[in-house]
Amino acid sequence: MLSLLSSLLSLLFVFLISCCIITNHFSFRPLSLLKLLGVIKFTASRDDDDHYKRDEGTYVVGEEELQRELMPRHVAVIMDGNRRWAKREGLLTSQGHEAGAKRLIEFSELCFKLGIHTVSAFAFSTENWGRHKIEVKCLMSLIQHYLKSKIQYFQREETRVSIIGNLTKIPESLRQTIHEIEEATKGYKKKHLILAIDYSGRLDILRACKSIVHKSETGLIREEDVDEAMIERELLTNCTEFSSPDLLIRTSGEQRISNFFLWQLAYTELFFSPVHWPDFDKGKLVEALVSYQRRERRFGCRV
Ligand SMILES: *[C@@H]1O[C@H](CO)[C@@H](O)[C@H](O)[C@H]1NC(C)=O
Ligand SMILES: *[C@@H]1O[C@H](CO)[C@@H](O)[C@H](O)[C@H]1NC(C)=O
Repeated sequence: MLSLLSSLLSLLFVFLISCCIITNHFSFRPLSLLKLLGVIKFTASRDDDDHYKRDEGTYVVGEEELQRELMPRHVAVIMDGNRRWAKREGLLTSQGHEAGAKRLIEFSELCFKLGIHTVSAFAFSTENWGRHKIEVKCLMSLIQHYLKSKIQYFQREETRVSIIGNLTKIPESLRQTIHEIEEATKGYKKKHLILAIDYSGRLDILRACKSIVHKSETGLIREEDVDEAMIERELLTNCTEFSSPDLLIRTSGEQRISNFFLWQLAYTELFFSPVHWPDFDKGKLVEALVSYQRRERRFGCRV
């Protein structure tokens, strides 16, 4: 009898202690419970609300319906606003870039789910070398860390990853990681993520010109062989089947091309969003796609 009583008492004790810990925890940080619930709600709604009805010709994401046959095949994105987002949130610039990298993974995941074949992202422009040395170094090591840590993820997702740009000035270790991830994923055909690092649209065209002149000098081609298709083959975007983006998204209120793809954007639909890149969530992407699907694309023709 006594032993039963004592075990009951000790059970009660354990119960009270854990209650104390829990209430303490939540009374000091009431937000964390709300945050936690928010996260749970978010993950739950992610699976419940979205139906990717491929066979019926539409995708239903949240409240919106997207036409499968009007889906862009290649979406390009200029991810602006990481720094401004960090500043607004009272975080470090590097944390802004980190949030931006995470957002890119989510963004491309959703694009691929919706049947988009190629996603290309302007991660670092040639002009970005002009930024503060420490920030450039941070950005480079973030890109390297991210690529390295995601190799298995991209293999699991069967996503091919290509990195385009000059790549002569970037750190040797990053170059190695790039080689690693490209080799590990080069066999995948259905999804393609292209990261532009130290990329410049003008330099891309310049490279193509040089290569064509070189081929001409060595007698491989003649003037009449040079046409648009040949130039396209010489551009760095020749790694994807769909080298001209159908849709370009730029965030954070900037309305410029900023020396990203120049040749490739000739007939691309442009979508500018005021939100900073780390805030460009599923709803924003769907908004861009709805806007894209409402446009009548003429490719320069009157019809
Ligand atoms: C690549 O960058 C290097 C180093 O800055 C530069 O010398 C070279 O001209 C660039 N090449 C091209 C094709 O952009
Ligand atoms: C693709 O572009 C690269 C870089 O300009 C070039 O070296 C390569 O030969 C091109 N590939 C094809 C198939 O033309």
